[in-house]
Amino acid sequence: MLLLAGAFSVWAQTTPAMTTPTAAGFWNTSGVFAGAYQCAVCHPKETAKFVGSSMSRALEPVADCKILAGSVHFTFRDAPYSYDIRRVGDKVLYRVIGGGETLETPLLYAFGQGKAGQTYVFQVDGQFYESRVSYYAKLGGLDLTVGAINAKPSSLLVAAGRVMSGSEPRNCFGCHTTGARVGGTLQLAHFESGVQCEACHGPGVAHVAAATAGKMVAGTIRSLKALAPQESGEFCGACHRTWESVMLMGIKGINNARFPSYRLSNSPCFSLDDARISCTACHDPHGALVEDYRYYDSKCAACHNNGNTSLKKKLCPVGRERCTSCHMQRVEPAEAHHAFADHWIRVVRSKTDYPD
Ligand code: HEC
Ligand code: HEC
Ligand code: HEC
Ligand code: HEC
Ligand code: HEC
Ligand code: HEC
Ligand code: HEC
Repeated sequence: MLLLAGAFSVWAQTTPAMTTPTAAGFWNTSGVFAGAYQCAVCHPKETAKFVGSSMSRALEPVADCKILAGSVHFTFRDAPYSYDIRRVGDKVLYRVIGGGETLETPLLYAFGQGKAGQTYVFQVDGQFYESRVSYYAKLGGLDLTVGAINAKPSSLLVAAGRVMSGSEPRNCFGCHTTGARVGGTLQLAHFESGVQCEACHGPGVAHVAAATAGKMVAGTIRSLKALAPQESGEFCGACHRTWESVMLMGIKGINNARFPSYRLSNSPCFSLDDARISCTACHDPHGALVEDYRYYDSKCAACHNNGNTSLKKKLCPVGRERCTSCHMQRVEPAEAHHAFADHWIRVVRSKTDYPD
């Protein structure tokens, strides 16, 4: 049985994320954000691709949430508590009943577009809480939020959700929105939902002003083209969890399958200074995830081919195509109801073969 450390959910672990890259100057969040609609005017190509990506939909205010649209009504029971999520007008109410008591509060934010799952955030007495139940695409309904199974609620409020303490709200919104984290603080007055242009390229008001005036000023927007492979890994890893952050979180076993930066850096294929194995070698940062195995064959062939003398003996004795179907098999973490491609590229010897 794989258990998480403590009673915290995997996606809620307070991570040191966004501290490593800060040192490298990636996350200057102190400037003024322009908004992706402004970038769209002059960068239609990146914009057109990016609107179809998962990252652009990493958070939705409940009012606009597709999963909670219409006359939605989800129910769930984890005795002695029963859960009910339903839309009433422009609000979505979260009701938890148990021990003769009832708690009812509007949900405020939907975290995750719900490709794997969607977790809700609400507020009680000024504190943010992560809902104890989440929506899972595979179930088409609710189940306990990842990690919640480890904690038996001591009160109705605990049964409703887990209080997000310390820097946690800032970190959650920091990874799932653009501009909600300014400097070291969380501000929810103006931000964009999801990971938008400026989440990666940095605040862009000065760049927009310069470009509009027709006088480009170097350094007003962060170019990411020239990132060295190691920087690029740390950059994506700030949210997708680097080796260091997973070590600090202490998440062992298949629960770390959802952390591609950590998994990939353990693979014998990985090298810190080889761009052919960096995240952007296989993923267009502006595009939707490609789900066709064949797309990745040429990425493997960049190293595993006859012409590469250092790897001459490393041609596959088994397959000539769809390499990732065998060497990056999908793995389903406990309670996640979703299988992630294991980025620890390797020969998988058996179903239970999972180095961590
Ligand atoms: C008024 C037009 C305009 C707007 C608005 C605009 N850009 Fe640009 N951007 C340009 C031009 C022109 C260049 C330089 C030529 C090029 O590389 O395409 C540029 C270059 C860039 C670069 C490369 C920088 C470099 O040093 O090579 C990035 C990244 C970028 N823009 C992102 C953004 C983002 C993010 C936004 C929204 C906050 C934005 N741009 C808004 C016109 C604009
Ligand atoms: C600011 C945080 C952040 C950064 C930086 C970031 N990501 Fe993401 N990424 C996310 C979040 C959050 C999601 C999940 C979106 C969802 O499904 O709700 C995601 C999803 C993805 C997905 C899509 C998964 C799917 O199943 O569709 C890919 C691929 C991806 N990221 C690659 C990258 C790459 C490559 C980089 C570096 C260039 C990067 N990400 C940088 C936060 C980030
Ligand atoms: C360090 C950055 C980071 C922090 C902090 C973070 N997330 Fe995420 N989150 C991600 C990334 C990257 C993904 C995509 C990979 C995955 O599904 O794990 C993701 C995925 C998710 C998903 C699944 C999305 C989908 O479409 O299936 C949910 C739900 C979620 N996060 C909720 C939360 C909540 C709630 C918090 C705070 C309590 C939080 N996250 C904090 C980076 C982060
Ligand atoms: C997940 C992070 C991420 C997001 C979000 C993102 N980009 Fe990028 N962008 C990158 C990376 C990484 C590169 C460098 C790609 C490469 O290596 O060629 C890049 C390259 C670019 C370039 C080429 C110039 C350069 O030097 O970086 C432009 C222009 C650009 N992005 C504009 C945008 C716009 C406009 C948006 C919003 C629609 C956007 N980006 C959203 C990560 C991101
Ligand atoms: C050698 C190619 C390769 C490299 C390098 C790579 N990925 Fe992937 N990635 C894949 C494949 C293949 C999939 C599964 C695609 C599918 O759904 O069929 C995937 C899926 C993903 C997903 C979706 C969730 C999942 O696990 O299924 C995310 C997020 C992601 N990659 C992020 C990253 C990040 C961040 C990096 C850099 C640390 C990275 N990838 C490097 C090939 C690669
Ligand atoms: C940057 C170059 C590079 C890329 C890209 C790359 N590999 Fe590798 N791969 C290597 C190196 C180097 C080794 C180790 C060879 C050795 O040990 O002699 C290796 C080893 C392997 C092994 C043997 C692992 C083991 O457990 O013994 C497999 C399987 C493998 N790669 C498959 C792939 C697949 C599939 C892809 C594409 C998804 C891929 N590689 C992409 C460089 C790469
Ligand atoms: C049907 C599943 C399957 C497919 C598809 C597949 N492989 Fe393999 N691969 C294996 C297995 C199993 C082994 C281990 C063979 C052994 O040790 O007897 C292996 C071994 C390897 C090795 C290690 C060879 C060595 O000498 O140590 C590399 C490298 C490799 N594969 C790369 C690839 C690449 C690149 C592709 C795509 C062109 C690919 N594989 C497609 C199943 C597959």
